[in-house]
Amino acid sequence: MVDTDAPVISIHRLTKRYGPVTAVRELDLEVRRGEVFGLLGPNGAGKTTTILTLLGLAEPTSGTVRVLGLDPTREAVKVKRQVGYVPDSVGFYPGLTARQNLRYTARLNGLRDVEDRITEVLEQVGLGHAADARAGTFSRGMLQRLGIADALVKNPSVMILDEPTIAIDPEGVRQVLSLIRTLREEHRMTVLLSSHLLYQVQEVCDRVGIFVKGRLVAVGSVAELADRLSEGRVVVEVGVAGDPDAAARRLAEVDGVQEVSREGDLLLAVCGGQSRARIAGALTGAGHTLLHLRQRSSHLDEIYHRYFHHERTE
Ligand SMILES: Nc1ncnc2c1ncn2[C@@H]1O[C@H](COP(=O)(O)OP(=O)(O)OP(=O)(O)O)[C@@H](O)[C@H]1O
Ligand SMILES: [Mg+2]
Repeated sequence: MVDTDAPVISIHRLTKRYGPVTAVRELDLEVRRGEVFGLLGPNGAGKTTTILTLLGLAEPTSGTVRVLGLDPTREAVKVKRQVGYVPDSVGFYPGLTARQNLRYTARLNGLRDVEDRITEVLEQVGLGHAADARAGTFSRGMLQRLGIADALVKNPSVMILDEPTIAIDPEGVRQVLSLIRTLREEHRMTVLLSSHLLYQVQEVCDRVGIFVKGRLVAVGSVAELADRLSEGRVVVEVGVAGDPDAAARRLAEVDGVQEVSREGDLLLAVCGGQSRARIAGALTGAGHTLLHLRQRSSHLDEIYHRYFHHERTE
């Protein structure tokens, strides 16, 4: 029987050294079935090394790695059959068409009768119209999507994407992220992606792990990490019609509000996480017309820099 609660990827005390360099240090990590997990960290953090051990392309120095219950070092072929991998630089034959390139990889992987499947995955990544155009004419964004199509031909249950948004323009990034969302939502895939462009991938990740110098310094949803750093404090933007000074005075008296300041037409309240309803009630109760009420979300960039900074100054 398949244990559906078992993590799809589980890493226990993984250490990987290259000579004197420790690329990954005592890493513990679990990726659950059906989630999009973002491995985030600056250049040289050990993201690619971790990914390579999951695919059996790098052997752990110590510790254990399991993908769908398999040991990638010993059962690389079985892992490869079920795991789609999109490397950070996808290479295709420029003189071959998209379809011919996919056919070529499929043949290398020993897959047969893939013509319909190739048509299907090219449609799925939005390259149906370019199926018979040469890969050499593709933009970087199109090449990235062709890389995803290539990994999808075998119908994997897990996708691993190394820096999927690197070096592509904002529209290309949006297309790749929406594709990743579809893989999870419509095809129930588990997705592990790596990135150092945190603000780009923030919205698509159910959970993220912040990776610095081979060590994981924090794991959780973006909201959880933000909460942990802000120690439960949030900033709420308030806009009222009429006299903002009177509203600011009333706001400062609301239970849970610690600080009030002005920013243009808005009042900013630093307060506990659950204060919004009380703020609305207090202001309308005092006769103010509320035009705007919004909790500011912490940017992952900010979160990440603060974790990174803590790590360096320790
Ligand atoms: N084959 C190798 N031989 C020697 N050192 C390596 C090798 N691969 C990686 N390293 C080193 O291990 C560390 C982690 O590298 P890795 O490529 O895993 O980081 P990364 O997080 O993917 O970085 P990037 O954002 O630049 O892709 C770096 O110091 C790197 O120089
Ligand atoms: Mg890398």
